[in-house]
Amino acid sequence: MSRESVDDTISAVPGAWRFDAEVSRSFEAHVRKSVPFYDELQRMLVELSDYYVRDQSVIYDLGSSTGVTLDLLAAHHAAKENAQFIGADLSESMVTEAQARVKWPNVRFIHKNVLDIEFNPPANFIVSLYTLQFLTLAERRRLLKRINVGMVEGGALLLAEKTRAENACFEDVWLELYWDFKRRQGLTPEQILCKANSLRGVLNPLSTGENIDLLSQSGFSRVEVFFQWYNWSGFLAVKNGCYRQPRGNRAVATLPSRRQENAPAGGEATRRTRGPSGRA
Ligand SMILES: C[S@@+](CC[C@H](N)C(=O)[O-])C[C@H]1O[C@@H](n2cnc3c(N)ncnc32)[C@H](O)[C@@H]1O
Repeated sequence: MSRESVDDTISAVPGAWRFDAEVSRSFEAHVRKSVPFYDELQRMLVELSDYYVRDQSVIYDLGSSTGVTLDLLAAHHAAKENAQFIGADLSESMVTEAQARVKWPNVRFIHKNVLDIEFNPPANFIVSLYTLQFLTLAERRRLLKRINVGMVEGGALLLAEKTRAENACFEDVWLELYWDFKRRQGLTPEQILCKANSLRGVLNPLSTGENIDLLSQSGFSRVEVFFQWYNWSGFLAVKNGCYRQPRGNRAVATLPSRRQENAPAGGEATRRTRGPSGRA
């Protein structure tokens, strides 16, 4: 199949979106046209990191692309003693771009699949922006469990994801308003359609509720949505082995919702922490 234009300097094959050298070179302009509030989310994650990053902390960025996030985090925490920042990305050209861009001595980028990361030393703070959406459900589950095990008590995972609406009628609304956003950024209707075609079978978004369930099932005892713009969401998940369910929520477990009744085995523990509507 032939390549189609998805931005001024980026082309892609339908059903085969890749973070190749062409995308890596123009990534920072393209991501701002594609992800609403990209810079605001980076700003928010930096201020949120103050609650988890201390002297000696280890910070990972999974799907680090050109290193924007670790550049900001390393600058913000420059006064911390012996903090280490590790970025991982599957795309070699992204790692090369990141190494050229980020000059902090305590930041390193590795060319690695996030599914193979050892989290050694264990993490205090892990960020992963717009990356888990490219994994299958089984891969996400495996990775989130590994992240939880590879994190110190009280450590946090900050995720940002493209999401689906819980209700099908809102999915249409979110998507149409997202296309309007892309038009305002200067992308043409044809480029927007070609990008959507290239992401077929590659991008696997979950709903906000499904993301929360998955994080809870992976061992994160406190999960909160800190950002939402239509079909884009940010989650903060904290590992805390001493967590007890609040009394009020325990009673809810005796009143399963229809979603709970249809849930596959294993989702039970999660849904006990949530209200009858399925929302936290
Ligand atoms: C949308 S970009 C992420 C943007 C970046 N986090 C930021 O905020 O600027 C997704 C990145 O994840 C990387 N990626 C996708 N699947 C991956 C995997 N299994 N392991 C490592 N990196 C992966 C891609 O190469 C790409 O650089």
